[in-house]
Amino acid sequence: MKVLHIDSSIMGDASVSRQLSQAIVAQLTQKYPTAQVQHLDLATTPIPHLSADILMGQNEEQSALGEQLVQQYLDADIVVVGAAMYNFGVSSTLKAWIDRISVAGRTFKYTENGPVGLAGDKKVYIASSRGGIYGENSPVDFQESLLKTVFTFTGVSDVEVIRAEGVNMGAEPKEQAMTNAFEAIRSIS
Ligand SMILES: Cc1cc2nc3c(=O)[nH]c(=O)nc-3n(C[C@H](O)[C@H](O)[C@H](O)COP(=O)(O)O)c2cc1C
Repeated sequence: MKVLHIDSSIMGDASVSRQLSQAIVAQLTQKYPTAQVQHLDLATTPIPHLSADILMGQNEEQSALGEQLVQQYLDADIVVVGAAMYNFGVSSTLKAWIDRISVAGRTFKYTENGPVGLAGDKKVYIASSRGGIYGENSPVDFQESLLKTVFTFTGVSDVEVIRAEGVNMGAEPKEQAMTNAFEAIRSIS
């Protein structure tokens, strides 16, 4: 069992999404004691943004890193993504990871009938944190919606969102949001 644990919040120990992603991974390792967990901390170790030379395979070092990231994503049985909402979307560092793992011929392919995902057969947990309240499918939510779209596009149908929202609306709403999220994490079976 391979677990890929990704964090992207810039807030270190004060981060809500990091607390949630860590709790999800703890729950998973309790369930699968022999699980191998790989952690990508995109805030402390950012992945260089995609550029033309990387895209065209003209940067050997970055091509090797891109291949490593793609293979790591393909190999994972479970992916846990800590995703803070920044300006209605995800952090630029998480977007940089998305740009490196969305590779035609590796994680998806185009066919006569449209795109087909090649990275199916895994479960994705999105540990989502946001200051305001958006609920499900808000037209201004480009954070969860982007992540769900990308994972679905690469073939993953089992995507679960564990969300703490309204965390910047006062101590009480934050506490309630955290309690609800941790309860959802405890019920991961
Ligand atoms: C740069 C920045 C942009 C943010 N943009 C939004 C936003 O568009 N909508 C929102 O509801 N909260 C926004 N917030 C609040 C964060 O979503 C909230 O603090 C969340 O807990 C961040 O996740 P973290 O605690 O894991 O860092 C923003 C925070 C920062 C630092």
